[in-house]
Amino acid sequence: MKGVILAGGLATRLRPLTWVTNKHLLPIYNKPMIFYPLESMAKAGIREVLLLSSPDHSGDFANLLKSGEEFGLNIYYGVQENPKGGIANGISYAKEFAENKRIVVILGDNIFNTDLKKAMDKFSRRERGAIVYGVKMATDSKQYGVIEVDEDGKVLSIEEKPEHPKSDIAQTGVYLYDERVFAFIKQLKPSPRGELEVTDLNNLYLREGTLQCELLDWWIDAGTSFDELLRANNLVCEKVKKGEL
Ligand code: DAU
Repeated sequence: MKGVILAGGLATRLRPLTWVTNKHLLPIYNKPMIFYPLESMAKAGIREVLLLSSPDHSGDFANLLKSGEEFGLNIYYGVQENPKGGIANGISYAKEFAENKRIVVILGDNIFNTDLKKAMDKFSRRERGAIVYGVKMATDSKQYGVIEVDEDGKVLSIEEKPEHPKSDIAQTGVYLYDERVFAFIKQLKPSPRGELEVTDLNNLYLREGTLQCELLDWWIDAGTSFDELLRANNLVCEKVKKGEL
């Protein structure tokens, strides 16, 4: 499989920190945020990663990460023309890079330490489909996509930031897709907020009956607010000191 990391968006919720700096270059304890998804890719055994960012910042990533050798990766750089086109729009830029192979997608502000390898092996034996990673939230899940599953882990619904969440499982920014993902994205229409939504993409697989859900042990979406950014810094510091990350 090949890897795709999305580091676009405008990060308006983190201004003024993000007026000139891309959110994914902000520090999380002792490293820039983007290091964490890159390390997750390397740990999963991925070797080729496409890093997509906004037109203004792609040079900054190349300056920092260079060829990717330090991570044991080959990093390729791409630009998402409209940085707020939506996550599914971002993924669509990986079509040529993917070369008809399956892809693992990680959002650039997602931090976790679950090894994706086991699920990737299982996925490679499946004929087709997709996997979405969820995580159980102790607090309100309604600021995320929310995944409803039955007792056997079968996905029943995914709703984007619902008013009344049907479960406490948040949709994270970690996804595995088969080679048809680009054809599915072509079927999507922009949402009311003007984005091609990853939730709509995942719902196409759900409707087909080929979407599965795996759970991460813990997860931080570091980029949603100042409080989450601070929490990410503190939690990562704690985990690094305990040798858990
Ligand atoms: O983080 C998980 C959540 O990500 C999911 O629970 C939601 O279902 C999903 O829609 C998304 O939620 P947000 O709307 O809050 O995503 P945000 O705009 O914060 O962007 C998440 C990451 O994706 C961030 O690292 C920037 C990147 N991104 C986002 C957009 C909209 C892009 O690279 N391109 C984009 O066009």
